[in-house]
Amino acid sequence: MAGRIPEKFIDDLLARIDIVDVIQERVPLKKSGRDWSARCPFHDERSASFTVSPAKQFYHCFGCGEHGSAIGFLMKYDRLEFPDAIEELANRAGLKVPYEGGREAPREDASDLYIVLDAAAGYFRRQLADNDAARTYFAQRGLDDSVLARFNLGYAPEGWDGLKNALGTSAARIALLEKAGLLTHGEKGGKYDRFRDRVMFPILDRRGRTIAFGGRVLVKDDGPKYLNSPETPLFHKGRELFGLWQVREAHSKIPRLIVVEGYMDVISLHQFGVAQAVATLGTATTRDHAEILFRQCADVYFCFDGDRAGRQAAWRAVESVLPRMRDGRQAMFLFLPDGEDPDSVIRKEGLAGFEQRLKDATTLSAFFFHELGKDVNLASLDGKARLAERARPLLTQIPDGAFRDLMLAELDKTTGVRMQVAAVAESPSPRRTSAQPPSLVRSAVGLLVQSPSLATAIEPPWTFAVLRLPGIALLIELIGLCRARPDITTGSLIEHFGEREEAKALRKLAIMEFPGGMDEARTEFLDATAQLERQTRNQRLDDLCRQQEESALSDDEKQELRSLLVAKGMGV
Ligand code: UTP
Ligand code: MN
Repeated sequence: MAGRIPEKFIDDLLARIDIVDVIQERVPLKKSGRDWSARCPFHDERSASFTVSPAKQFYHCFGCGEHGSAIGFLMKYDRLEFPDAIEELANRAGLKVPYEGGREAPREDASDLYIVLDAAAGYFRRQLADNDAARTYFAQRGLDDSVLARFNLGYAPEGWDGLKNALGTSAARIALLEKAGLLTHGEKGGKYDRFRDRVMFPILDRRGRTIAFGGRVLVKDDGPKYLNSPETPLFHKGRELFGLWQVREAHSKIPRLIVVEGYMDVISLHQFGVAQAVATLGTATTRDHAEILFRQCADVYFCFDGDRAGRQAAWRAVESVLPRMRDGRQAMFLFLPDGEDPDSVIRKEGLAGFEQRLKDATTLSAFFFHELGKDVNLASLDGKARLAERARPLLTQIPDGAFRDLMLAELDKTTGVRMQVAAVAESPSPRRTSAQPPSLVRSAVGLLVQSPSLATAIEPPWTFAVLRLPGIALLIELIGLCRARPDITTGSLIEHFGEREEAKALRKLAIMEFPGGMDEARTEFLDATAQLERQTRNQRLDDLCRQQEESALSDDEKQELRSLLVAKGMGV
């Protein structure tokens, strides 16, 4: 991973750009009052529920509830990871992202790595043009020129130093080649090409940059059939999907994704017109993969061999996918006949045959209950209990929502073990237990989130900081933050909280509608804080009275108690 991006930079960046411009470039916005609106790009609708607030630097859809800052919009719309969204915005603002303190290379170095990997892909492509054996290999596997070009396929020549000599023109370049995973070294430290006499599959990241390679032997000999780049600062195989870039190139809206096992499966499917195939890179599907997949589209098909290994791999995919099954998402499982893979199936059965298999795919819930119930006797009470017992820890990982309810109902139906289900449903969910701030604190926080400049309306000291109420610490933090950055917008403020637990509540407050304009907001905020101050005095009064009963008060405390009572009109 690259280094951290300082919060200060993100604040400055958000202050420099206008969310309206960023969105306008992608979604045609119309002015409506102080805000801008459009038909929501994130769900199908006829009316324009999608609004962008220049004042808050925040977007929100009243239809589907999507909302966020310019960063969040880019992540969702351009399907970027957080750092990439920042890079994108920084580019347009003409700023360079400063990375700090990471274990690994700063981005200056990373951009050199991208350059060297891109040069390597070009070198392999040119080698392919010159090598008959490699071209024949691809032709025999039925790949045409357009798909070779789409995947930028290549060939790494025989010998030990073709690439090294062509690109390693200086010691620094050689070091970069090694860091990019393209060179390897022997016991004595001599460096040479990692990929030799292999056809080459460039692996692209979500912005289309080459970050690694897979290489396949032309003829089976003693080496491994496929060799992948090692993990590098740019390449983490548990987070990358081969072919995703090409899928995104082929669609403005991806209708579905099909996850297969091999490079050739992906390429073959694309060649036959199934331009939604991606592959994990010789690893099981991780939770990161699952999240990336579902961020692209709601329907994901997992394709496996029908044998034991295939079913095991499918089960691992289930485990990774369950925690990602938010409502609206759908996972399907497709098992191929023994000895076949998607490449062989689509060649034998054609597009129509493969599409039919997709239609017949098993749902996640069917596969789930089938696998769990495999070696239990559901006719016996004992077997039912065992099934419920196994299902329980897995089902609790599903996010709250209709799918979770459905799975629980299914378990209930299969086992009749209703108590178990209830227990699952009541298992502690962190979202539910974290108490909402009570209404007074909540409305003060909400008002501040909506109009951060209100923080200047009250001067320190903020006596209510000592109030023993949930949400007070957050309120104090917000007041401090908004005063320190007088120009902060709602969008930046939410970004400031990033992944912190409070962010979710703040986002909700950001989109709440408070009636009235700025003047009303100000009055309401002053009212709320005045009431909090009153509660603070009452709390102190209670404390002092209780203390008086238990032990003696000091002179100062007696004095304080007296003035508190006077203030309450209960003077003695
Ligand atoms: P397969 O051997 O099933 O690949 O491995 P395939 O795509 O059918 O290969 P072809 O058709 O013979 O060319 C599936 C995937 O597992 C990984 C690769 O990612 C491959 O695409 N793999 C396989 C390796 O990483 N190393 C190996 O030695 C074999
Ligand atoms: Mn194959």
